[in-house]
Amino acid sequence: MNAPNKPPLTIRLCEPRGFCAGVDRAIQIVVLALKKFGAPVYVRHEIVHNRFVVDGLRERGAIFVKELSDIPGDHRERPVVFSAHGVPKSVPADAESRHMFYLDATCPLVSKVHKQAMRHQRLGRHVLLIGHAGHPEVVGTMGQLPEGAVTLVETVEQVSGLDVPDEENLGYVTQTTLSVDDTADIVAALERRFPNLTAPSSESICYATTNRQEAVKKAAPGTGMFLIVGAPNSSNSRRLVEVARRHGAADAVLVQRASEIDWTRMQGVSTIGISAGASAPEIVVQEIIDAFRDRFDVTVDIALTVEETENFPVMRDLRDTALEPA
Ligand code: F3S
Repeated sequence: MNAPNKPPLTIRLCEPRGFCAGVDRAIQIVVLALKKFGAPVYVRHEIVHNRFVVDGLRERGAIFVKELSDIPGDHRERPVVFSAHGVPKSVPADAESRHMFYLDATCPLVSKVHKQAMRHQRLGRHVLLIGHAGHPEVVGTMGQLPEGAVTLVETVEQVSGLDVPDEENLGYVTQTTLSVDDTADIVAALERRFPNLTAPSSESICYATTNRQEAVKKAAPGTGMFLIVGAPNSSNSRRLVEVARRHGAADAVLVQRASEIDWTRMQGVSTIGISAGASAPEIVVQEIIDAFRDRFDVTVDIALTVEETENFPVMRDLRDTALEPA
């Protein structure tokens, strides 16, 4: 029975959603480094693209910096953590030259893409990287190889104008958090232009990106609104908004907290979808569902596509710290 004065609302809640194994590992590395070494622990760039997570770690004693040179001279003995997105080779080299102690929280699936790019180069191929200019993961992947060894491809339209050193010797990799469908279109366009193009030995788009997009595709048809919990600088979250719109949601928006919801846009809507990007914590998803419960008589339907079991362990030294009493 409906609660008095509250209109009914069905929420299609995507499963899987939110934290992936790489984000979970990166956050654990900062938390365990704080436990083992005490505050402050420096973190180069946002450890993951989420303000809620970053603010929470800051309160526990993490200090976020843009570059290693921003760490004050008298703090250079403190640990510094590299973010989940990965870093160019020059960054650990710079840390070593400054005698800094660093912990690399690069997601193992990003490291795998780095290795595949290096493999292409070792085998004499020029590397095409499909991704978004300026994203830290793209900066990190390009920075695995010498300048000029990688060409970035962002769109299908760009493919016809690409200028490459040898059309017969090309290999590609992609950013891990792209739209599965858009990337397939770019790869198809590249293969049409460069028939000898070599694919990476395994898919670069990661399991978490693929699974979250599939769940949104399942939930989106017929929804009046789709909310994606995530930050504007989170690539995988923005892709989920696009996927929802393309697959039948009347509208889709990115929200970081319940306080950002524009309730005027929810008027007259009977079914919404909710998912969360790989860097968005579940506590915010629940905060948003609670905000809907305050205003609607809510029924939650789970849109399940696959059970995720991936778990990326932290480095051994910190694993031992995890077992110690707080
Ligand atoms: Fe890694 Fe994919 Fe998450 S690359 S950090 S598992 S979004």
